[in-house]
Amino acid sequence: MATRGAILLVDDEERILKTLSRALRDDGHEVVVTDNGKSALALLGERDFDLLVVDNRMPGLSGLELIRKLVNPSSEGDADRPEIVMMTAHATVESAIEAMKLGASDYLQKPFDVDELLVVAQRALVHRRLRTEHRYLLSEQKTQFNDYGIVGTSSVIRELIEKLGRVAQSKSTVLITGETGTGKELAARAIHDRSAERGMPLIKVNCAAIPETLLESELFGHVKGAFTNATANKKGKFSLAHGSSIFLDEIGLMGLPLQSKLLRVLQEREFEPLGSESTEQVDVRIIAATNRDLRKMMTSGEFHEDLYYRLSVIPIEIPPLRERRQDIPCLVEHFIDKHRRRAGKNIDGVSEEALVLLSAYDWRGNVRELENTIERAVVLAEESVIDVAAITLPADAIAAPGGLPSPRLHDNVEWAERESIRRALDAARGVKKTAAESLGISQRALSYYLKKFDFD
Ligand SMILES: Nc1ncnc2c1ncn2[C@@H]1O[C@H](COP(=O)(O)OP(=O)(O)OP(=O)(O)O)[C@@H](O)[C@H]1O
Ligand SMILES: [Mg+2]
Repeated sequence: MATRGAILLVDDEERILKTLSRALRDDGHEVVVTDNGKSALALLGERDFDLLVVDNRMPGLSGLELIRKLVNPSSEGDADRPEIVMMTAHATVESAIEAMKLGASDYLQKPFDVDELLVVAQRALVHRRLRTEHRYLLSEQKTQFNDYGIVGTSSVIRELIEKLGRVAQSKSTVLITGETGTGKELAARAIHDRSAERGMPLIKVNCAAIPETLLESELFGHVKGAFTNATANKKGKFSLAHGSSIFLDEIGLMGLPLQSKLLRVLQEREFEPLGSESTEQVDVRIIAATNRDLRKMMTSGEFHEDLYYRLSVIPIEIPPLRERRQDIPCLVEHFIDKHRRRAGKNIDGVSEEALVLLSAYDWRGNVRELENTIERAVVLAEESVIDVAAITLPADAIAAPGGLPSPRLHDNVEWAERESIRRALDAARGVKKTAAESLGISQRALSYYLKKFDFD
């Protein structure tokens, strides 16, 4: 499929602008034209172009000078610059070569056929796309090396990252627990990606997504004729994970009979596929995750005690986001960066008020909910700074017990002040000096708040 793009065409001859722009438009491109280098530079500063087609000889700023300004490596956004194709008359082929040295991807020698232009433009646009993709992959890789995409500055998260690195060196079974959206799968991948088996795929099974009756065959495979629809032998995920790791997600949803079979794999490292008489041996590391309280399930008989202990050789608990609010600002920054690139929007960050709101919210859906909120805000934002108005939080969640009392920032700030003071006074049994100290404010400031909120 042909690649279409936004093209800026610069030439001082009106006749040429007309012919070339028509041909390019007919070929499906968006074309903006201008007849001088100066206004071209202004246009390039205003919006993104994929390709610049520029004549060299123009009064004022020449094509070559324009290119020099555009590719200046010290100028910001050089990486984002469009591809460049220079048009030149026979007598000035040297400047075309100069342009290529500066980074232009091609040149056209006047007079040329419009078809020639279309081919050259097409090639440049493909190059531009590859360049963008390459840059994206590099930045992805950077985040991979950088703590495997786990963002956070709280001591809990720094310790978690370090622990994941240590665990990766072993082949021990890991049990990752935490509320929904806390990053359990991210942690599982981090372990695998740092392990000696990282060259092999991490085999994933989501126990919640597969009905119990099919889960057994999914995990252990089956032989032809094992059940009605088993028309051929099928390898299970455990066989596929041989020599690597298997990620058993939502393990809390696995039924008791299957739990027993899994226990045997953990104890003996062997199993039989459904309907098969022969036993398979596997060498596999197991990483399990759940948002359920397995201990509770154990007491109520819903989860095998033996399996629980076999799984939690190395327990990793990821605390909910509201217990590590310190991570919120850098997560916000991380997700803005991710989604502004996806949405192709120019967003610099969040306002201070918006950050206060985001930091105070309860995030029952944890990091996933925060990411979705930021993605929505990036899409909705009308300015380059995300403000409170662009942040939509479910009203009922805000009113929920333990959550903020109001969607309005001002009300919440007052509420937080009043709550902090009430708690400090409670803890200090009414001794103002102690309360003020624990709040980190002066006694005079405390008196001010006591009056403001009508405390006795
Ligand atoms: N510390 C973090 N840094 C960056 N991204 C994170 C972090 N924690 C979670 N995420 C992102 O949040 C989303 C949810 O994370 P993940 O799927 O790992 O959660 P989970 O605990 O497995 O949730 P669930 O229990 O609902 O399956 C993912 O897009 C993940 O990349
Ligand atoms: Mg998950």
